[in-house]
Amino acid sequence: MCFQTDPGDCKEHIGNNRPYVVVNVAMSADGKISTRQRRQVKLSGEQDFKRVDLLKAGSDAVMVGIGTVLADDPSLTVKSPDLSRERVDRGKDPNPVRIVIDSMARTPPDAAILHKGLGMRIIACSRKAPADRLAVLRAHAIIIQTGEKEVDLTSLFAKLPEYGIRSLMVEGGGTLIWSLFLNGLIDEFSTFISNRIIGGKDAPTPADGDGFITEDFFPDLNLVSAEQIEDGVFIRWRVLPGKPFSITGSSRYRNISDSGKVS
Ligand SMILES: NC(=O)c1ccc[n+]([C@@H]2O[C@H](COP(=O)([O-])OP(=O)(O)OC[C@H]3O[C@@H](n4cnc5c(N)ncnc54)[C@H](OP(=O)(O)O)[C@@H]3O)[C@@H](O)[C@H]2O)c1
Repeated sequence: MCFQTDPGDCKEHIGNNRPYVVVNVAMSADGKISTRQRRQVKLSGEQDFKRVDLLKAGSDAVMVGIGTVLADDPSLTVKSPDLSRERVDRGKDPNPVRIVIDSMARTPPDAAILHKGLGMRIIACSRKAPADRLAVLRAHAIIIQTGEKEVDLTSLFAKLPEYGIRSLMVEGGGTLIWSLFLNGLIDEFSTFISNRIIGGKDAPTPADGDGFITEDFFPDLNLVSAEQIEDGVFIRWRVLPGKPFSITGSSRYRNISDSGKVS
């Protein structure tokens, strides 16, 4: 289901070989998604919490990076019993498929994401992931191995429709979102901007990684909507396709030279 967009957007995606991808993050008024200690902080209120839960319940899958699992230990379950029930009435599991991007299979075997709530889990690892850790995680999740040093996101996303995943919500963190921008894998970028300041040059932001350094490579966005929610603002952007960095083969280590060339 293509949840947050006009139906037309979804139609464009039918037949594409990857899911429709919506990134959703909450950030402070100064653009930070947590503290410099990478401690999870409450940035939105009840109304935004419900919006996020609705988005999650309407998505086939929800994804985070291993950095977020280790920092926050999220379960990524649908919180509203009514929304879970509606999913079951539609013939789905009560929770979307939960996906962790985790090159070396570092997901702790007791992580909440592996134990809380019913539904499929996928841990995406690189081919370097140690076999003993994979064996432990296999008891709780489907393991997909792709990429040499790190997870090849483009190849992973091409496999997700095989698991019935046509719409994907990405919750973070900043390293994963950066890689998704780098590989041209985001359709919508949504942020709730809270009325608080976190500060700190080392505090994570919605797109960390190395960053682009020339305008030619900056992904362009189209404003879909901006609305006040409680004391903050919710902004939805559509990511325009067609930048030259959107090439096959994932790497957040891809070299961006001082002249701005990506290799
Ligand atoms: N405010 C919000 O809405 C929100 C939401 C989520 C998270 N957060 C915050 O974000 C912070 C965590 O973010 P983070 O940047 O440290 O971690 P992250 O983005 O959650 O995970 C990044 C990790 O994923 C793994 N990975 C594997 N393949 C990758 C690839 N191709 N591209 C990118 N990453 C890949 C890497 O670790 P390996 O090499 O070991 O696999 C990488 O370090 C926490 O402070 C959390 O609280 C905030």
